[in-house]
Amino acid sequence: MGKLTDKVALVTGGSRGIGRAIALAYAREGARVFVSARREADLEQAVGEIRAAGGEASWIAADISKTREVKRLLREVRCLYGTVHILVNNASILGPRETIIRYPLSDWERVMRVNLTAMFGVTKEALRMMIPQKEGSIINLSSGVGRVGKARWGAYAVSKFGVEGFTQLLAKEMKEHNIRVNAVNPGGTRTDMRAEAYPQEDPLTLPAPDEITKVFVYLASPESEGVTGKSFDARDWLKKSN
Ligand SMILES: NC(=O)c1ccc[n+]([C@@H]2O[C@H](COP(=O)([O-])OP(=O)(O)OC[C@H]3O[C@@H](n4cnc5c(N)ncnc54)[C@H](OP(=O)(O)O)[C@@H]3O)[C@@H](O)[C@H]2O)c1
Repeated sequence: MGKLTDKVALVTGGSRGIGRAIALAYAREGARVFVSARREADLEQAVGEIRAAGGEASWIAADISKTREVKRLLREVRCLYGTVHILVNNASILGPRETIIRYPLSDWERVMRVNLTAMFGVTKEALRMMIPQKEGSIINLSSGVGRVGKARWGAYAVSKFGVEGFTQLLAKEMKEHNIRVNAVNPGGTRTDMRAEAYPQEDPLTLPAPDEITKVFVYLASPESEGVTGKSFDARDWLKKSN
């Protein structure tokens, strides 16, 4: 028996990077995993990898910046698996690394739509399944720049401050329904987004996504019963648990 046997998990942005590593880790623990992103080829590859390792997974291509696609995504999850117990709001975009005075409004709106509004929409649809079953764990991907203001991180940073706030208030609202909501800052991790943010950096100096998944398994599993409204750092967690 894995730690997540009989659970259904939805990981947005589960086709690459950190989301893909979380999806793999959940499947290894026995969860049925549903991954979504925009690019089909990456999704097929991620799901293929999970299945090759003996896990159960499905994918759907959806652009979560569009309300219609969010609804379609959650409808698909319901049709295939009947419900969802674990939601990882992982999909995000970086946007320009620019000062506020030079930051284009169109980029601001695009980043906020993917990183914050889409998270609200996906969560709301997932709650429709979680509330009646009185069970759920929602894990929102945050960032160090969403906790302390840092110049030239623009809408990305502000969206992550929003993720932290959303996590805290939703945790309070959902306590009576036995639905837990927590945020995780993965820390610098070897992914496409990190390479885009720090093009000069040697990626090999960073942990790979599959090295930081422990805290995500902990928060999804009954091991973290009663833990809600908290902000975690994946790397600190790793140090503590080793
Ligand atoms: N890597 C780091 O060092 C780091 C540090 C702090 C926080 N984080 C956070 O960790 C999370 C994962 O980051 P990552 O580095 O793994 O990012 P990544 O490698 O850029 O992957 C992002 C994922 O999100 C999907 N995505 C982007 N826009 C989407 C949209 N409109 N609709 C649906 N899916 C969309 C991408 O697939 P498609 O492009 O195919 O849609 C991809 O699967 C993010 O929330 C990020 O902010 C990362």
